[in-house]
Amino acid sequence: MSTPVTRLAHPRVAVVGLGYVGLPTALSFTDIGAEVIGFDVSESRLTAIKAKRVDLLARDQTRLAAALDSHRLNLTTEPSTLAHAETVLICVPTPVDAHLTPDLAALSSACAAVVEHAQRGQTVVLTSTTYPGCTADLLVRPLQARGLQVGHDIFVAFSPERIDPGVDDHAPDRTPRVVGGVTAECARRAARFLEPTAGSLHMVSSPEAAEMTKLVENTFRAVNIALANEFADAAREVEIDVMEVISAAATKPYGFMPFYPGAGVGGHCIPCDPHYLLWQLRSRRTSSPVVETAMAAIAERPRDVVGRARDVLADAGHRLRGARVLVLGVAYKPGVADVRESPALAIIDMLAAEGADVAFADPYVETLQTPSTGTLFHQSNIAEQQWDLVVVHTIHPGEDNSWLANQPTVLDTTYRVGALAEHVTL
Ligand SMILES: NC(=O)c1ccc[n+]([C@@H]2O[C@H](COP(=O)([O-])OP(=O)(O)OC[C@H]3O[C@@H](n4cnc5c(N)ncnc54)[C@H](O)[C@@H]3O)[C@@H](O)[C@H]2O)c1
Repeated sequence: MSTPVTRLAHPRVAVVGLGYVGLPTALSFTDIGAEVIGFDVSESRLTAIKAKRVDLLARDQTRLAAALDSHRLNLTTEPSTLAHAETVLICVPTPVDAHLTPDLAALSSACAAVVEHAQRGQTVVLTSTTYPGCTADLLVRPLQARGLQVGHDIFVAFSPERIDPGVDDHAPDRTPRVVGGVTAECARRAARFLEPTAGSLHMVSSPEAAEMTKLVENTFRAVNIALANEFADAAREVEIDVMEVISAAATKPYGFMPFYPGAGVGGHCIPCDPHYLLWQLRSRRTSSPVVETAMAAIAERPRDVVGRARDVLADAGHRLRGARVLVLGVAYKPGVADVRESPALAIIDMLAAEGADVAFADPYVETLQTPSTGTLFHQSNIAEQQWDLVVVHTIHPGEDNSWLANQPTVLDTTYRVGALAEHVTL
């Protein structure tokens, strides 16, 4: 017989990892009256959260202030506090290393802490993007080795995050959420816990199906972005405006979804997640050629930007070496300060390696580190300066880029700046 679901008046939730995903997730629970233990290994992250110096949507900033004032959000670096939670949600990073191999260090250590402090009756939900079978490897088997029977003593599920940082329209409480439990009881408990903060729930048969769902979502995006980039290059070759073509194709009410070309992909999802699938397939001596080709093309894209920069500068009578180049917008997407995996990093690095005098401007980013350049500082007064080349990488909401019309050469990797005198698209 399974343990009955006991509900506290103020359910105590532990969120492990308070980053781009974990912090808004914690706030969605404090918002519905839960008491949240926010556990993170980074003291500096907790200090920034306490000082409200964090990259959040306006409504989450308000929620953060309320959660701190009401003491519903209790921040800690002490893992033993996890034992006090009714439900534990794991949201730690799952990046890839320099060789594009999944780096499971944070997830392994977070799961180990959760297992060590697990209590009978707890529900544990893993939300970090990962390979199919990871919940079983890092939670189910270790919990069982501790003598806790999953589905009877403790309840485990996987439910991928669909948060879209910086985009208010995609708020988690309006977005359906996929859940796969190890047993029917695990699924029922996880669903009961997640339901108040999600738009709706879609139950799948297992954690593995839920893990794979996240991989297909982001791999679908990666492959389609690679295709959009390829179409952009083909359209340039035959002198057609690719954005006009994509907008026209998007009028088809079925069987087409628009994706747009750009300087590459960044953030913690699309450049990383498909590698979790490819890595797992490699261990089974099998492959996924379409995905592999798309990921290789995406990884190459910043190099294409630099090649194009070299060409447009040459057309304007300049060499890349010694040219004053401004990279405009370095966040990986509009509306966020996140530069993780941003194509801008590789672009700046390669431009600098070729001898260009590179600067960047981004109202969301004060400093930037790249391996070749060291620390760069956000440039102000960019409109008053004369650049040999402006590479438009990210356009943030509400930015006035009319000053670009006065710059001699502009390379638009966003395909969105619009017609300017000496402006060319990637
Ligand atoms: N960022 C996104 O847009 C997004 C969207 C959907 C899903 N995801 C997935 O969500 C997961 C988390 O991503 P993120 O962007 O929030 O990462 P992040 O790097 O912003 O934050 C992770 C936090 O976890 C903390 N942490 C690291 N190791 C820890 C440990 N062992 N114990 C406790 N805390 C630890 C870090 O200090 C950091 O504060 C990843 O799997 C990612 O793929 C991210």
